[in-house]
Amino acid sequence: MRHVYICDIAHYVGQEVTLKGWLTNRRSSGKIHFLLVRDGTGVIQATVVKGEASETAFVEGDHLPQESALIVHGTVRADRRAPGGYELAVRDLEVVHRAEPYPITPKEHGVAFLMQHRHLWLRSPRQRACMVVRAEVIRACRDFFDSRGFLLLDAPILTPTACEGTTTLFATDYFGQQAYLTQSGQLYMEAGAMAYGKVYCFGPTFRAEKSKTRRHLMEFWMVEPEVAFAELPEIMELAEDLVLAVLERVLARCREELRLLERDTAPLEAIRKPFPRLSYDEALALLQQHGEPLPWGEDFGGGHETVLSSAFTAPVMVHRYPTRCKAFYMQPDPERPEVALCVDVLAPEGYGEIIGGGQRIHDLALLQARLKEHGLPEEPFQWYLDLRRYGSVPHAGFGMGIERVVAWLCGLKHVRESIPFPRLLYHLAP
Ligand code: 4AD
Ligand code: MG
Repeated sequence: MRHVYICDIAHYVGQEVTLKGWLTNRRSSGKIHFLLVRDGTGVIQATVVKGEASETAFVEGDHLPQESALIVHGTVRADRRAPGGYELAVRDLEVVHRAEPYPITPKEHGVAFLMQHRHLWLRSPRQRACMVVRAEVIRACRDFFDSRGFLLLDAPILTPTACEGTTTLFATDYFGQQAYLTQSGQLYMEAGAMAYGKVYCFGPTFRAEKSKTRRHLMEFWMVEPEVAFAELPEIMELAEDLVLAVLERVLARCREELRLLERDTAPLEAIRKPFPRLSYDEALALLQQHGEPLPWGEDFGGGHETVLSSAFTAPVMVHRYPTRCKAFYMQPDPERPEVALCVDVLAPEGYGEIIGGGQRIHDLALLQARLKEHGLPEEPFQWYLDLRRYGSVPHAGFGMGIERVVAWLCGLKHVRESIPFPRLLYHLAP
C-alpha cells in the first residue's frame, strides 16, 4: 500500500493508504478509538472502529502509550468534524516502537522543564510551526540575495581576531594558537566584496555575552551581505527590501503556522515601504519624550530599543550613532565625524534590533588609527588592511539575525523558541 504524508492527504480521499508516524494523543468512546497521529508534516485523526479494524488495531488503539511509533493502514475520508478536515478509517495498525511513559503530556509544563526536554519539545505543533517559519525565513533570505546577483561566500567559523569588540569571544585552542568562534563574517565579506562585488554569507555566529534577555543567544545565525561601491543610503534600502521580502514570504507561505502560533498578522500586513528613518539624535529626543532619557554618546539598552520599536508600526531604521559606541571599522560621517555612517533596524511591537550594519572605513590611515584607538594589534589585521591597499573603495553591508526575525514574525516572547537547540547563558544541553 502507498505510504503518504499527512500534508498530502487531501489527494487520497476514498483511497487506502499507509501512514507512518507517532501517536500524539488518543481518546476512546468504547467502540471507537480516536488516535491522533503525527508524521512531521501534519496531524490526522485515525479512527479505529470495533469490527471494522483488525483485532490487533482495536486492542492496541486502546493501550498504546503516547509517542509510540506506528504504521497505520486505512482509508482516507473527508470529514468536516475531524481536525484538519480529513480522517483515516483504520483497517490495520503495526506498532514499530512502544514508547516509555512520555515526559511531555498535554498538560502545561514550565519553561525550564521544556528546555531540558528540547529534543522532545520540538515535536509539539507549536514548536513545529516555529521551525517551519524559521526555514522559510532562511529560504527567503537566500532567494532574495541569489536573485539579486549576490555571490554566496561562506565565512570561516574559527578566526584569529575579533570583529565586534574583544569582550564577547568564545576562545579555543588552535594547535597552540588562540582562536575564537566567529562573531560575524563581515571582515571576510569585505574581502569578498572587493573580489566579487556583491556577496553574502549565512552561518552561525557566537557571542559570549553574559546577557540573560529574551533577545540574546550565545549562538545565533546571521545573514550578512556586503556590497562594493555602496554607501549608507543604498545599504539602508537593501535592508528595507530584505525585511519586506522576508515578511511577505512568510505571510504568503506560513499562514497555517502563524494561525497556530496565534500571531495577530494585522500589524505585519500593514507594513509598507518606506520604513521610518530616524537619526540617533532624533531617537534620543524621542526617548526623552517617553521618559527614557539617555546621555549623548551611549548605546541603547534593551529598554530603549523597546520604547523606540514600540513607537512605530513599521520597522524603524536608526542611523548615525556616535562613533564611540560602535565597532572600529565604522566609516565616520564626513560632515560630522563624531557620528558613524551606520544603521540599526528595529522591529516593531517592541521586538528591537534585527539588523546592524553600515559603511566601512576604506581609508588605510584612518583604519590604522582606529585599530590603535580600540587597543587592537595591527599584525593580525594585516590582511584586512590589505583590502585598503589594493583598490580600496567605499563599501557597506549589514547583518540580520535570523532568530530575532523569527521571534518577531512568529510573535514569540523569547528567542529560545526560534532556534532548534538554543544556546543561552548557562544553558548548553540538549
Ligand atoms: O549588530 P551586530 O553585532 O552586527 C554585526 O555583527 C556586524 N558585523 C554585521 C555586519 O555588518 N555584517 O549583529 C547583527 C545582528 C543584530 O542586529 C541581531 O539581529 C543579531 O545580529 N544578533 C543577535 N541575535 C541573537 N542573539 C545575540 N546575542 C545577537 N547579537 C546580535
Ligand atoms: Mg548591533
